[in-house]
Amino acid sequence: MSTNSSQPDWPEIYRQRRNKIRRQVDGVILWIGHSLQPRNYAGNTYPFRQNSHFLYYTGLSEPDLLMLSFPEQDHDILFAREADIDDIVWTGPTRSRAELARDAGIDIAEEIERVKEHLAGVRSDGARIHYLPPYQYSSLYRAAQLLNMEPAEVIANVSQVLMEEVAKQRSIKTEVEIAEIEDALAITDLMHRAAMAEMGPGKRESEIAGVMQGIALAHDRQQAYNPIVTIRGEVLHNHSYSGIMQEGQLLLIDAGVESPLFYASDITRTFPVSGRFTAKQAGIYQIVLRMQLGTIGMIKSGISYRDVHLAACRIMAEGLRETGLMRGNPSDAIEAGAHALFFPHGIGHMLGLDVHDMEDLGDIVGYGKKEKRSGQFGLNYLRLSRPLEHGFVLTVEPGIYFIPALIERWQKENLHSEFIDYEKVNGYLGFGGIRIEDNILVTPTGATVLGPGIPKTIPEIESAMAQR
Ligand code: GLY
Ligand code: MN
Repeated sequence: MSTNSSQPDWPEIYRQRRNKIRRQVDGVILWIGHSLQPRNYAGNTYPFRQNSHFLYYTGLSEPDLLMLSFPEQDHDILFAREADIDDIVWTGPTRSRAELARDAGIDIAEEIERVKEHLAGVRSDGARIHYLPPYQYSSLYRAAQLLNMEPAEVIANVSQVLMEEVAKQRSIKTEVEIAEIEDALAITDLMHRAAMAEMGPGKRESEIAGVMQGIALAHDRQQAYNPIVTIRGEVLHNHSYSGIMQEGQLLLIDAGVESPLFYASDITRTFPVSGRFTAKQAGIYQIVLRMQLGTIGMIKSGISYRDVHLAACRIMAEGLRETGLMRGNPSDAIEAGAHALFFPHGIGHMLGLDVHDMEDLGDIVGYGKKEKRSGQFGLNYLRLSRPLEHGFVLTVEPGIYFIPALIERWQKENLHSEFIDYEKVNGYLGFGGIRIEDNILVTPTGATVLGPGIPKTIPEIESAMAQR
């Protein structure tokens, strides 16, 4: 919904979201906001990040908030502690409880301690109290106190129906949410372009990571996750920045920032340190690009993401057969799981307020009710498998990696040797890894690649890097 000034009416949006979710459950919903997390002692904390469900239903990014949503339309109570003079002296003036409630479109705001009386009232009425699984220990402890339960009991009694309905609601992104992701991508684009301009032989990974994070900070943005900036792209989540780039290596960068309202972007690009791909690198790069463009071309409402993943595997197996790294029938190789030597993760995941959107709710987000996650190596990391719907935003992030420890182990076990030419594969040790990742909106007839268009093809990357 928009006002005349074309700014979204956020308090009204939050109100509507709460009115939608309350209709789906029978009882009262307890929402637990995050608390500051101590880094080494209580007064030295990590930067605060609100719980994404709390953000989705209130937009409020202050620590230590609680909310109860009752079954009646518009009936929510926000619970917050009013800042005292010491808080104001040390951390400055903050929004009052009434202002917080107003900004979230909530009619009633009360002192935090009063939540206990309301919960007692709900219990004596015999109504069910629904809540989502608390994954921070401070939230779990708070839930245990409020619900008079042991922590294990809190976890055992999370509301399955609330989890399912929240997942359903948050999975479909509205226009205002897509605008937030686009906003995050605009800054992410600047970061990746700056990395391309700054990188080169002799530079440290940390210098490039610093340039990228500096741009985010200059725009007052947080990273959506720990950025990956590495010449060892085969280490899937490599958070070390100690490497020094050398001629002939690839630099893999997986980084994205949050929007002003905390929506994530998640972009990966892989660049040649020297500015030009070697023939060997270009050969593998083109296969990954074909995997990415080919699968983006398949995406539309109704298609299962498992099928999209398997199509990426097939494009890869065919490509690697041409290079001589794989052999035999690609379908049989994929069925056996041989391709996972090179592509041991899923093709992508949901994206929203979380970089892996709602992963805290588990597989109800990415898997259909009757669908079980595969136990096969590689396929077991597919986070999104179910049929896609109009309004889903997801990542498409195929990759090809040469992981020395995995190659050594499989070769020793002679695993899938009918599909893998280990002698040829050993010629790629030290190659690293290539991943190309974009953020995609699913539409009824296809897919829209979000973002301003970060260089991706070999000519685009080489010509952008030539301008350094
Ligand atoms: N960007 C990190 C990941 O998707 O796992
Ligand atoms: Mn990703």
